[in-house]
Amino acid sequence: MKITEQIKQPIAYEMELFEKKFRLAMSSKVALLNRITHYIVNRKGKQMRPMFVFLVAKMVSNGEVLDRTYRGASVIELIHTATLVHDDVVDDSNQRRGFFSINALWKNKIAVLIGDFLLSKGLLLSIDNGDFDLLKIISVAVREMSEGELLQIEKARKLDITEAIYYDIIRQKTATLIAACCSLGAASVKPDGPEVESMRKFGELIGMAFQIKDDLFDYGSRSIGKPVGIDIKEQKMTLPLIHVLNNCEKKDKKWLINSIKNHNKDKKRVNEVIDFVKSNGGLEYAVSKMKDFQSEALQILNEFPNSEYRSSLELMVNYVIERKK
Ligand code: IPE
Ligand code: IPE
Ligand code: MG
Ligand code: MG
Repeated sequence: MKITEQIKQPIAYEMELFEKKFRLAMSSKVALLNRITHYIVNRKGKQMRPMFVFLVAKMVSNGEVLDRTYRGASVIELIHTATLVHDDVVDDSNQRRGFFSINALWKNKIAVLIGDFLLSKGLLLSIDNGDFDLLKIISVAVREMSEGELLQIEKARKLDITEAIYYDIIRQKTATLIAACCSLGAASVKPDGPEVESMRKFGELIGMAFQIKDDLFDYGSRSIGKPVGIDIKEQKMTLPLIHVLNNCEKKDKKWLINSIKNHNKDKKRVNEVIDFVKSNGGLEYAVSKMKDFQSEALQILNEFPNSEYRSSLELMVNYVIERKK
């Protein structure tokens, strides 16, 4: 059995029902909107965020999920989708989930509006059902994601990014949403339990590992359904490069900075930078940091009694690091 099927086994029923509810949550009366949202739902991603919601909810409640757990999962996946649509505009990326991105097909104007539509649909799903405690968790994540994306742009321009700032960026732009999945999963079934905070921390740690992995893909050549090798082009400094920059000789550092600043659209030069990062241990360093976050996350899980849900979450933690896309 594939690892993803194994992970989903204890939440197979919930994921199937979730997909139906998620489709409905996206619908609109405007024909153009419906065409585009159809395009989106027919090219679904890995759905890791709803999986986290259901696995955590079932782990802390011994197998019980509520209607609001489903709504929470839908809201998070709607917001995740909205940020991807916007992210592809920001990153000028033409591919997502193995197909053309929304901005590639319908241009930036429409992509921006679609992202806003999905975001508002998500927020309304919470509001209309009075899930205000869950909405609070989600809204904090939305704010942090926007801040993280802007922090990334600000720091990339200056090219003075440290490892600590990199962690701040990825915590905000990616880890907080996965943290929200896990704390929302717990809060949906046990609003006042201590699990709400411990699962938030768990999600944050795994979210950090998740984004380091995503950044490592950019140095690879495998097809992952979205462009690779575009981070340097977009002047996005990630952990492998940051580590090498801060640990190489002065003249190499000068060359690296000059390359990123002034030659970031020159394919040959960008490839030389990538090769330099690779031959100076940048990837190995990032992998070791990713594994540190992974083991911290596993430690939190270990405090929970053994169950099929905990086992699936453990598999999920390993999948984040070993996944091929
Ligand atoms: C991509 O997230 C955006 C990042 C935070 C790196 P996913 O890799 O979970 O995207 P999909 O939903 O599976 O396409
Ligand atoms: C992740 O950013 C998207 C958000 C968290 C908004 P990236 O730009 O690194 O993600 P991909 O690689 O395009 O999916
Ligand atoms: Mg981006
Ligand atoms: Mg991007």
